[in-house]
Amino acid sequence: MAKNDRANFGSKIGVILASAGSAVGLGNIWRFPYETGNNGGAAFILIYLGCILLLGLPIMISEFLIGRHSRANTARAYQVLAPGTPWRWVGRMGVLAGFLILSYYSVVAGWTLEYVVEAVTNKFSGKSAPEFIESFQKFSGNPFRPIFWLILFLLGTHYIIVKGVEKGIEKYSKIMMPTLFVIIIILVACSVSLPGSEKGIEFLLKPDFSKVDSQVFLSAMGQAFFSLSLGMGCLCTYASYFGKDTNLTKTAFSVGLIDTFIAILAGFIIFPAAFSVGIQPDAGPSLIFITLPNVFQQAFSGAPILAYVFSVMFYVLLAVAALTSTISMHEVATAYLHEEFGFTRGKAARIVTGGCMFLGIFCSLSMGPTKDITLFGMGAFDLFDFVTAKIMLPLGGLLISVFTGWYLDKKIIWSEITNNGTLRVPIYKLIIFILKYIAPVAISVIFINELGFLK
Ligand code: PHE
Repeated sequence: MAKNDRANFGSKIGVILASAGSAVGLGNIWRFPYETGNNGGAAFILIYLGCILLLGLPIMISEFLIGRHSRANTARAYQVLAPGTPWRWVGRMGVLAGFLILSYYSVVAGWTLEYVVEAVTNKFSGKSAPEFIESFQKFSGNPFRPIFWLILFLLGTHYIIVKGVEKGIEKYSKIMMPTLFVIIIILVACSVSLPGSEKGIEFLLKPDFSKVDSQVFLSAMGQAFFSLSLGMGCLCTYASYFGKDTNLTKTAFSVGLIDTFIAILAGFIIFPAAFSVGIQPDAGPSLIFITLPNVFQQAFSGAPILAYVFSVMFYVLLAVAALTSTISMHEVATAYLHEEFGFTRGKAARIVTGGCMFLGIFCSLSMGPTKDITLFGMGAFDLFDFVTAKIMLPLGGLLISVFTGWYLDKKIIWSEITNNGTLRVPIYKLIIFILKYIAPVAISVIFINELGFLK
């Protein structure tokens, strides 16, 4: 976006690409598989899909309409729509959540850069599954290397935010995201054809509800918000750049569909391969970094050049997918500091980047050198992930649905969703009903249940 004006996205496809670029990222390819693995597989996925449909899509439409109607950053948006009320804290909490997510997300984004280098220098060649596990542990436990990549990734994000070259990124996304999609499809085919992959497919498709507890619900809900970039005003900020004719409902469905499809496909790459080589599905955040190199090695064992080309392309594209997400988080905090405190965009961005580097270093160290320092039983990385994805984002979503369902003038909602009556949106009443009753009740019940469970 140019320096001081609120630019508009150039085209319809630009709107969808930027929002999908924010949504599709490490959340789909890294976090979704490991949460699925930790929470028992198919039953988790079903609950996750329920959360996307019942909570994610209506709340995404809410964020869109709040952003486009107010044409302001997420904190200001509430001041415009509900002047003088405490609703502005919803926006502020969102800015904070985005800032915290960016801090630990950049650590994992940095890991993807390490893997780009390993792929380019052909380090995967000839390694066995235990060797991949060992080399990941060695890397993430190193006090310097991951921090180097973390800083580099944040500087890359910073550069794009300050130079206002998102337009360039948008242009490249048009080629890169479909390419990533094609590679993902090829990898799914490779993974499911590995010997012993059936167990992984079963894990994804055969729900076992006996292991479902409040923790699984909380994780599925958190993952839905995280993956769709919801609950923190990210899509609200993007929608403030939407044009008047953007169909908010359709855009939300497109983004939700693309995002969910990619997450499910990622599951179909990781689990068949993990079961095939005997990697535990609950390996946690390291899961894709130890499973995927195996897929490349084993599936293309007869054609090492293909293994090489695919692994390089995959990690480059994964890094780009992460970048389009970090840009969106950075933009929320930068737009807030710039527009609310009068900092120049450059200074606002420097504060965000510097702060995230500082916190990110703690998160990175907690994966190795300082892993014994914990709070509530979690290191900095896990704590940031838990507090943001499982508390702040769903809480943000709850407040956004109450704000739209109960507080906001229905005329505003109607004019935004139907573009002033020019669109026919048959599910309009359903959206309102969900925002008013279903979403607030469902999120509250999951929260309360989890609290009871903790006791
Ligand atoms: N949705 C992004 C992903 O799946 C992460 C994200 C969360 C981006 C919150 C912005 C806001 O990778």
